[in-house]
Amino acid sequence: MVEVFSAVVVGAGGISNAWFPPLKAEGVEVRAVVDLHLETAKRQIAKYDLMAEASDDFSAMLTRHRPDFVVDLTIPAAHGQVTCTALAAGCHVIGEKPMANSMEEARQMVRASEESGKLYMVSQSRRWTAQHARVCETVRRGRLGVLTTANCDFYVGAHFGGFRDEMASPLILDMAIHHFDLARYFTGADPVAVYARELNPAGSWYRGDAAASCIFEMSNGIVFSYRGSWCAEGCHTSWNGDWRLIGDGGTLMYEKDQDPYGQVVTDDTGGFHRPLAELDVPAVVLEAEHMHGALREMLHFLRTGEPPQTECHDNIQSLAMVFAAMESSARGCRVPVQVM
Ligand SMILES: NC(=O)c1ccc[n+]([C@@H]2O[C@H](COP(=O)([O-])OP(=O)(O)OC[C@H]3O[C@@H](n4cnc5c(N)ncnc54)[C@H](O)[C@@H]3O)[C@@H](O)[C@H]2O)c1
Repeated sequence: MVEVFSAVVVGAGGISNAWFPPLKAEGVEVRAVVDLHLETAKRQIAKYDLMAEASDDFSAMLTRHRPDFVVDLTIPAAHGQVTCTALAAGCHVIGEKPMANSMEEARQMVRASEESGKLYMVSQSRRWTAQHARVCETVRRGRLGVLTTANCDFYVGAHFGGFRDEMASPLILDMAIHHFDLARYFTGADPVAVYARELNPAGSWYRGDAAASCIFEMSNGIVFSYRGSWCAEGCHTSWNGDWRLIGDGGTLMYEKDQDPYGQVVTDDTGGFHRPLAELDVPAVVLEAEHMHGALREMLHFLRTGEPPQTECHDNIQSLAMVFAAMESSARGCRVPVQVM
């Protein structure tokens, strides 16, 4: 018999449209939808035809419905409070990225998970993408030899309105967290130190810095270079970024969400350019992608106890890259990436 799990969803804004369909597809019993604006919660319940209570009182919903887990889809500034409240009430939590608005808050969330004995995982949705799994597998199987370098370019002109326009570092905190986490996923390496420069280009429609250049030193001596802007009009890259990974045996390119491709050295016996062959990029099939993939890992944890890849002790390393980059930019120097 398939076990049915129950959830309370907090935050019924834009991204909840990506969560209700997989929650329904997986047969999760959504018992309540909570939002600061009751009408917003009611609207989503009606839109997705849910048998759920609409509320603006999160604590009351936890007490009344005692869900197995909470889905935190609130804005970044609310993640700490929502997650800690849910963990203290004995619920597991799957929450949207970024984990928190500060490292202090994120560390508190990790401690709250440890103290409660409940899981807190961050949905870093871009990990659950077949193309990304192919890049990861290529590196993991050593097809590029020993990896030395990862570059990512991200250039999009995005006119959101809303909370991002007011954030101090919208690119680094709200978007680059995806790319920094992908860099860890692709390379299998963790961050050591960073030199970064954030800026808000002339003509930007953001209040905070919407562009940045960062050089990360990663474990195993890998260097990860990141260039990005959220206010670059024209010639956009993919939202996933355009990537170049280099090992001592060859190069992989992943651009515009197209199939990853590359070249590897076939014969190291001499010549100005070594002879090259097409890189063999393995095919990978994922049963579920994006938020659905993240949700599947949460449900798998509930059934087996196996921790998801973006469990908070892991994911805080991606967040630490964010705050170290911001600190480096503010201080104008290289800084170590400190996790706990
Ligand atoms: N994974 C992705 O690709 C992706 C894409 C977009 C957004 N996100 C993330 O999802 C989160 C939400 O983004 P969004 O675009 O849906 O924002 P949004 O502003 O559209 O919606 C947020 C909702 O949360 C509600 N809310 C805020 N604080 C609350 C609280 N304390 N209690 C209850 N409700 C509260 C707001 O009223 C609002 O309805 C952010 O962390 C964002 O970074 C992730």
